[in-house]
Amino acid sequence: LSTTDVDISAIKPGQAVTVVWRGKPVFVRNRLPEEISAAEQAAVADLRDPQKDSDRVKKPEWLILVGVCTHLGCVPLGQKPADPRGEFGGWFCPCHGSHYDTSGRIRKGPAPANLPVPPYQFTSDTTVRIG
Ligand code: FES
Repeated sequence: LSTTDVDISAIKPGQAVTVVWRGKPVFVRNRLPEEISAAEQAAVADLRDPQKDSDRVKKPEWLILVGVCTHLGCVPLGQKPADPRGEFGGWFCPCHGSHYDTSGRIRKGPAPANLPVPPYQFTSDTTVRIG
């Protein structure tokens, strides 16, 4: 399938799901207000892969990412509440220690680039279509 529809109605603030799109994991996270403000307040010019949070989301609470570390392709941890989320509260790649922030941007470790944002659109208030 070239597109994947995700029902986001049951994903509560602070929770996330992983879906599969084109054979890859895609993370859909309903961000908490403090996660959104941390992402928005990061000094973009200091980032390894400088991108504003507002250029990575369509709605501030919904962060949607391809869940493949940009170093060597492991799947970062941070989806489940019990997972380690790294020093910046987003995702942590245990393979070689890359830390991603609450916008999925690389902040520490060997990964060269941010977790990619896939193409997507909101097809209703409760549905996102990836692809
Ligand atoms: Fe993620 Fe190396 S694959 S840090």
